[in-house]
Amino acid sequence: MGWTLQQPRSRHLLLLFMTFALCVTVVFISKSDSRDLYEHSTVAYKMAEMEMRVDQLTRLYELKDNDVQDLIKRFSSVLKSIVKSLNVSVTDEIESLIATYNKSIETIRSPMANFDVFTFLPHLRSHKNYLRPLILHSGNRNAVSIVFGVPTVRRQQTYLIQTLINLVSNMNQTEQKDSLIVVMIGETDQEYIKQVTEEIKSRLPEAANSGLLDIIAPSPEYYPDFSKLRLTLGDSEDRVRWRSKQNLDFVFLMMYCQPKGSFYVQLEDDVVAKPQFHSIMKKTALQKIANGQQWFILDFCRLGFIGKMMRCSDLPWLIQFIVMFYNDKPGDWLLDGMIGTKACNLEKDDRDCRKRKNEIWVMYSPSLFQHIGTRSSLNGKIQLLKDSLFKKKINVKRINKIRSK
Ligand SMILES: *[C@@H]1O[C@H](CO)[C@@H](O)[C@H](O)[C@H]1NC(C)=O
Ligand SMILES: *[C@@H]1O[C@H](CO)[C@@H](O)[C@H](O)[C@H]1NC(C)=O
Ligand SMILES: *[C@@H]1O[C@H](CO)[C@@H](O)[C@H](O)[C@H]1NC(C)=O
Repeated sequence: MGWTLQQPRSRHLLLLFMTFALCVTVVFISKSDSRDLYEHSTVAYKMAEMEMRVDQLTRLYELKDNDVQDLIKRFSSVLKSIVKSLNVSVTDEIESLIATYNKSIETIRSPMANFDVFTFLPHLRSHKNYLRPLILHSGNRNAVSIVFGVPTVRRQQTYLIQTLINLVSNMNQTEQKDSLIVVMIGETDQEYIKQVTEEIKSRLPEAANSGLLDIIAPSPEYYPDFSKLRLTLGDSEDRVRWRSKQNLDFVFLMMYCQPKGSFYVQLEDDVVAKPQFHSIMKKTALQKIANGQQWFILDFCRLGFIGKMMRCSDLPWLIQFIVMFYNDKPGDWLLDGMIGTKACNLEKDDRDCRKRKNEIWVMYSPSLFQHIGTRSSLNGKIQLLKDSLFKKKINVKRINKIRSK
């Protein structure tokens, strides 16, 4: 299991494929002006699905698994058959693109650049194994549409089991098979980790056995010496330590999840979800991609880090950003900061900035997730933040509508 993340070659593949998809679309459109819009949008949706499929394969490639790589090698012929099934004639150009794609996979076996967390967490330099996760339970599931990351830490009152049961029971079989839920226990007490793992496995045996659930923990050496943190934002030592560790937990979880699917959604260990949340999220994302809309985050809950959906291929940007500033700000502020950095024009005002941010950080309403915990993991601090958009009546109607489709 490698921690190698971003590498230019797979970007290449993706780029290549997008060029390919574009060509097919162009061919398709120019060939059939008379087809109605609906049909066209269906093709665009299929294209988006294909794009995500390639993306999944790219992620899988990063796992350096031989079987998986053979699978990807065969993918160019799958592309061919997809073109056939769409009943579009492709030009020689596209034929040659497919061949190039095939060939580029042949030559991709060069070692991949390591994702650089070592600059920012220098204590890991001495031993790269310190970045290796403790895999407490895994069905080795890959290539799902959505990977859900659930970070959890020891706290006075735990809702973890309740949360997991709720998530699983709000997915049907199709959705479960297309998901991976990764629980990351952000603790180093081996006894405690073992106990939580056993409890999850015994309370959710089906999810654990089917491969839907992975349970991991960081290696004990992953965390830096928290007594040496800089005190930032005028916060107390406890608070700085708590949010810095939380950032490192998020990053670790994201690094583990990144190669395993098309989309990543982070949750918390004390949430409830709406039925069909998986299908709604996947459909929303694919539709946006099909429509050619640029987005970086699809936001399915207004709170903190809950329900933020990203492409797995975009995750390295966030991972890198958080790890650079983990000691400076809480994770949700860093997320906001990154989007601001991406989107805002400093010569314009706040309103313009907000508008630009909203274009790539797209809010989905109604919310699909709600907080249930009332005690923060920071010293049992009482926190009563709720997402007010979760319970509106419109939700129920909307969900029923989607259900009855
Ligand atoms: C891809 O390359 C393999 C040989 O590596 C070849 O057998 C196969 O036909 C090629 N597929 C396409 C679609 O060109
Ligand atoms: C493919 O499209 C052509 C016209 O463009 C049509 O004659 C043919 O029946 C179509 N084939 C399938 C399998 O839909
Ligand atoms: C699960 O729900 C999705 C979305 O509504 C639907 O497409 C799928 O067929 C359902 N699967 C099962 C096994 O009911």
